Amino acid sequence: MVKHVAVYVTGSIAAYKAVELVRTLQKKGLTVRVAETKAATELVGPATFASLTKHRVFTDLWAESVDGHVPHIELADWADLAVVVPATANVIAKMANGIADDAATAALLATSAPVAVIPAMNSQMWENPATQRNVRLLKEDGRLLMEPTTGYLAEGYQGKGRLPAVGAIADFVETVLVADGDQLGKRRVVVTLGGTREPVDPVRFLGNRSSGKMGLAIAEAALNAGATVTIIAGSAQVKLPVSPRCQIVKVTTTEEMATAVKQKLNGADVLVMAAAVADFKLASPAKQKIKKAADQSTYQLTLVPTVDILKAAGKLKRPEQLVIGFAAETNDLLAHAQQKLVDKQADVIVANDVSDSRTGFGSDDNQVTILRPNWQPAKWPLMSKKAVGERLVDLIAQLLRKED
Ligand code: PMT
Repeated sequence: MVKHVAVYVTGSIAAYKAVELVRTLQKKGLTVRVAETKAATELVGPATFASLTKHRVFTDLWAESVDGHVPHIELADWADLAVVVPATANVIAKMANGIADDAATAALLATSAPVAVIPAMNSQMWENPATQRNVRLLKEDGRLLMEPTTGYLAEGYQGKGRLPAVGAIADFVETVLVADGDQLGKRRVVVTLGGTREPVDPVRFLGNRSSGKMGLAIAEAALNAGATVTIIAGSAQVKLPVSPRCQIVKVTTTEEMATAVKQKLNGADVLVMAAAVADFKLASPAKQKIKKAADQSTYQLTLVPTVDILKAAGKLKRPEQLVIGFAAETNDLLAHAQQKLVDKQADVIVANDVSDSRTGFGSDDNQVTILRPNWQPAKWPLMSKKAVGERLVDLIAQLLRKED
């Protein structure tokens, strides 16, 4: 199926590069239509885009309706993807605050398609706290941001604010569009990975041996299946993916992971808690480095329970959401995992025996048993963590289809 891309050109001097972008997207087989802000029309006239796209350029909120359709809604509904390029600080501010006072911003507010934002502006405008705050808001709203590059600006000096190369923007657009129609296309998956660390004093912590490999395998499989993925990463030894469909939130403590999960759960279809999360933290971590007295033979730490993130998510989740946890056990694997399935109201528990060095913490392979309410436990053979991730994503897709 031919994909529809609505390109929203706004009033940055880099607007002339949008002409080349439209051509490049068309060469990739995409159908492109253009909307321009008034400022953009001062830089590149609508006639240029109209003759390239063979479509009227949308510039006027009060333009006559075509076939009885309201023009800004028609463009918003037509698009499989909206790309704001170049995006000025002004338009970013409007989008972040839901302002729709012209043709382009009204259509952007009305679209349910994914929205990619490619800023280009003077470096001081980019670095202004107001712009950075608005960019953060857009990311929180799930907009896909491509960072500007550093180099010579129109003003004649170096700085961050240049529009990325047209080829790179076209690749970014293509990657976002691939997500549609795939097994998990348009699904939003949150994966936690790595281990949490609880401070003992300013230089020490209580941690665990999680490498992040298991969570990474799940996140990569979900990305390959077309999902938009948020990785909430504790301490880990893996290279995290770079993709316009992948957001990374780095955390240290269980508390921080809990806050991030709570924030992301609402907009997610699936949460997978593959992270190894501390069950206890220090009642009061020392403010200064703990010193050893000359005659000291023991030192006691007082621990208190941490928040149970999975349990909280199990309580909060909506019926159509999937919450998946792991159970890392060294004994009585199935009994303990079954208890966690019930206690945490999870939809699935992936049980792994972490007493075996071939599976569990740090290994490249894993052997898991899948538990689900009213299902017989399903023991999967020993396989690579990558294969476990892929099989788990197949299961997720199957369960989500049932929820639809
Ligand atoms: O990272 P790797 O080196 O690849 O290792 C993979 C792994 C062994 C870490 C992974 O396969 C795994 O088992 N992750 C879960 C580890 C764990 O914390 O298990 P648990 O049985 O203690 O906890 C059960 C579930 O509750 C887990 O999903 C855990 O994320 C969650 N939990 C635990 C404690 C807590 N306070 N909040 C939680 O949400």
